[in-house]
Amino acid sequence: MSKQMYDFGLVGLGVMGHNFILNVADHNFTVCGLDVDQKKVDSLIAAGGNTEKVNATTEVETFVASLSAPRKIMLLIPAGKLVDRAIQNLQPYLEKGDIVIDGGNSYFTDTDLREAWLREKGVSFFGAGVSGGAEGARRGPSIMPGGNREAYEYIRPVFEAAAAKFKGEPCVTWLGPRSAGNYVKMIHNGIEYGLMQLISEVYDLLKKVGGLNNDDLSEAFGQWNNGRMQSFLIEITAGILRQSDDRGEGRLVDKILDKAKQKGTGKWTSQNAMDLGIPIPTIDVAVSMREISALKEMRVQADEMYDRPKPVATDQANLLTLAEEALYFSFIVTYAQGLHQLIEASDSYDYELDLAAVARIWRAGCIIRAALLDDISKAFEEKPDLRNILLSPPLAKKVGETIGSAREVIALGVKSGVPLAGLSSALNYFHAFTSGRLPLNLIQAQRDHFGAHTYERIDEEGIFHTEWNK
Ligand code: 6PG
Repeated sequence: MSKQMYDFGLVGLGVMGHNFILNVADHNFTVCGLDVDQKKVDSLIAAGGNTEKVNATTEVETFVASLSAPRKIMLLIPAGKLVDRAIQNLQPYLEKGDIVIDGGNSYFTDTDLREAWLREKGVSFFGAGVSGGAEGARRGPSIMPGGNREAYEYIRPVFEAAAAKFKGEPCVTWLGPRSAGNYVKMIHNGIEYGLMQLISEVYDLLKKVGGLNNDDLSEAFGQWNNGRMQSFLIEITAGILRQSDDRGEGRLVDKILDKAKQKGTGKWTSQNAMDLGIPIPTIDVAVSMREISALKEMRVQADEMYDRPKPVATDQANLLTLAEEALYFSFIVTYAQGLHQLIEASDSYDYELDLAAVARIWRAGCIIRAALLDDISKAFEEKPDLRNILLSPPLAKKVGETIGSAREVIALGVKSGVPLAGLSSALNYFHAFTSGRLPLNLIQAQRDHFGAHTYERIDEEGIFHTEWNK
């Protein structure tokens, strides 16, 4: 390698790393990549046009020595042990003031441990969620960094240049200390799971009850994407439904096995929501539905054992209107659940998150980008202490205008035997969240009856126990 010093280093030249480092180089930063695989190193050098701006190596020491101080090194490698190994390989060559950024979907408590370990050695560690897939990494992702506030200033120019732009505003900002960035990315993914589940249910209902074919469905999603439902996931769904099968007749979507895989971020969101005591049933259901989808053999067996009601006859045009409204309603509820968890986590883990800023950096580049996020960011700007967006009057108005259709669509699905677990969970969460009085008084009575667990009263302060039916 030449004696040139580079502005930015990246470890892991897989698709994401290769694309992200080229994106950074596009913005007039000199960059150097590191990978154990010589082919990936050669491929990056070639993609950089064999210029002085883009270089790469397989040697850790050479890589670190080629970066100008303070060194800014980003890891784009699979979460888990590989991240620890990469940090351990780099650490002997790092100096005080250097910055290491983990751009993967690492579990937030892992980031806390790594940050504390490197801080002792004078190195700043960032957990920075990167969303937008391979295309986003190349053209502009949404970046969610957490770590030392002062050290962020060194990486800010690179991130702001490489990030997606929403009306010229970069979709990146310093979010908070330690694992704040990884936590925000985890919630992003939980919401992503919820929205994907909801879209799949509406697709199923329109097909089975509405009798729409792939062309009709693609057109409907395409039209919705031109309105208030405008979002990346709706947009790609319209395209997916049009894609022909290049290995046979018909559309590809109809040939894909109905078993959804998962890498774990949705499950982590649900697990941590339980720890925090925050209800996110639509995200929980999205995880459960992927698990049910995996039970293919049992599902096929059970399908033959049980009768299913006939689809209720409906007017197609009316069903499309109802479905768009039901989807809009349940999207709002899903964002509400994920953001509620984020607010609680911000308090519990001292992240001091600015929720308006989180919603702003999700408006472009990431998988859950949607027109709705502009409304959500405004709701937090107007009321920074908002704890659940369902309590924001402008969003409550949107909910009021669409909830009736959610009720109708779900009733149709129930009568027709179409599983709408995500849509129903959003509706039932809403019904419960907006009930001034729930029947959980009875649960308290039962707990006190069989276990003397005590209860509180609505008309008197204190803790009570009753000798029931004695
Ligand atoms: C993103 C995505 C990405 C995630 C995939 C796959 O923001 O670009 O969230 O980080 O890895 O969506 O996730 P699952 O395999 O769990 O579906």
